[in-house]
Amino acid sequence: MVTSYAAAPDIEVLTSNFPIPGYGLVPINAFVIKGSEPILVETGAAIERADFMQALRNVIDPADLRWIWLSHTDFDHIGSLHQLLSDNPRLRVVTTFLGVGIMGLTAPLPMDRVYLVNPGETVTLGTRTLTAIKPPVFDNPCTTGFYDSKAGVLFSSDCFGALLQAVPQNAADLSESDLRDGQVVWATIDSPWLHKVDKEAFAAELDGIRMIAPKLILSNHLPPAPGHLLERCLGALAAAPGAHPFVGPNQVALDQMLKQMAAPA
Ligand SMILES: [Fe+2]
Ligand SMILES: [Fe+2]
Repeated sequence: MVTSYAAAPDIEVLTSNFPIPGYGLVPINAFVIKGSEPILVETGAAIERADFMQALRNVIDPADLRWIWLSHTDFDHIGSLHQLLSDNPRLRVVTTFLGVGIMGLTAPLPMDRVYLVNPGETVTLGTRTLTAIKPPVFDNPCTTGFYDSKAGVLFSSDCFGALLQAVPQNAADLSESDLRDGQVVWATIDSPWLHKVDKEAFAAELDGIRMIAPKLILSNHLPPAPGHLLERCLGALAAAPGAHPFVGPNQVALDQMLKQMAAPA
């Protein structure tokens, strides 16, 4: 079920919890940024399109949207992309050359409806000035988050996500250990290449986010995190390369699970 709540006076979160059996819940977030040219960040998961559109309509008339910022092309973020584009001819998609290329393998984007932006570039959408960033952790090469410098809000894409047992509406309501452990596990699942990084080079990437010093961090897979949590979030990422790599259940484990499920109660 997709629900919504406010993360800031002009930013709404659309969210649902995706269960990973035996591990916990992954929140899947999209964001509506209200203003003179409303922006939808991500478009929900492919598996819950109808729910997502209903929740979106409760927050804004989709006909009023002017921009979609698609941080990357994974199935948990492109669910309602094409429906929104076909329903609203004024809507354009902020993405990258690579994002367009990847979408071309499943459902091509109309080239006159895209707006290409690279990390480091700044775009003005209505009254908002947004600087595209490449977050330090990502699971898709086209990933592009952004920073709204006036509002002090960092949209970090999948970076800073967490696997949780319960999902509050504010990351500050998580215990220190739930936040840290959840972020470390998520990072090892979503970005397994972290175990191969040069620690100093990775620390420099984290410093780049530290220097931004956002007032609010909006991740695709974490409840909104106020800026005072930034050091904790960066600390969890710094610890991830040294954590156990994630190894999913193998066929022996799956056979056991299926046998248990088939056994009479
Ligand atoms: Fe992703
Ligand atoms: Fe994601």
